Amino acid sequence: MSTQHNTVWHDSSITKEDRRKQNHHSSFVLWFTGLSGSGKSTIANALAKELYKRNIRNYVLDGDNIRNGLNKDLSFSDEDRTENIRRISEVSKLFVDNGTVVLTAFISPFLQDREKAKEIVSEEEFIEIFVSCPIEECEKRDPKGLYSKARKGEIPDFTGIDSPYEEPVSSALTVKTNEKNVSESVDAILTYLQEKKLI
Ligand code: PPS
Repeated sequence: MSTQHNTVWHDSSITKEDRRKQNHHSSFVLWFTGLSGSGKSTIANALAKELYKRNIRNYVLDGDNIRNGLNKDLSFSDEDRTENIRRISEVSKLFVDNGTVVLTAFISPFLQDREKAKEIVSEEEFIEIFVSCPIEECEKRDPKGLYSKARKGEIPDFTGIDSPYEEPVSSALTVKTNEKNVSESVDAILTYLQEKKLI
């Protein structure tokens, strides 16, 4: 019994292992982190397509989309970003329990929040991928015109400008999107997953 809320945990009659067996593959989280415009969503979606082709059940959780629904009540303050990542971590854990490969594409700028996400999901099922790109290049790309607005002071707390991004120190993988194209980055991730016998 959880003493905090007087609730009792119900074990599912179908286990995570049952679901994995039915799917013929493992389930885990690929946690993409990086600056706005670094290429997180692009790579996650391109990889999702490749996994789909290989009959691997997967789902992309994307910052822009989730902030339009589940997390529409959250701002970009440090506290709300932490809450954003906490909720996504819990949702990811449910997907993993369902036997699904989850690809998350959130800036997730704080080291401590990513560590907490790993703890919530579990260390063995959490693979952090740093989508690395110099801010100057992200700003040059500016696919949504957000950097330009942020520079004019029209978007407060913008990551990399007046809100910090803490680079990963121990990612499983780093993809440098200013050096490699999308398909090269996707191939590198697929190779990693094959080497680890995850797919
Ligand atoms: S976070 O930091 O993980 O909570 O952010 P996330 O949920 O991934 O949302 C990032 C997307 O929100 C848009 N956006 C902003 N990003 C950063 N800072 C500020 N202030 C901001 N305001 C809006 C932006 O489209 C981000 O998407 P990406 O794909 O990263 O460019």
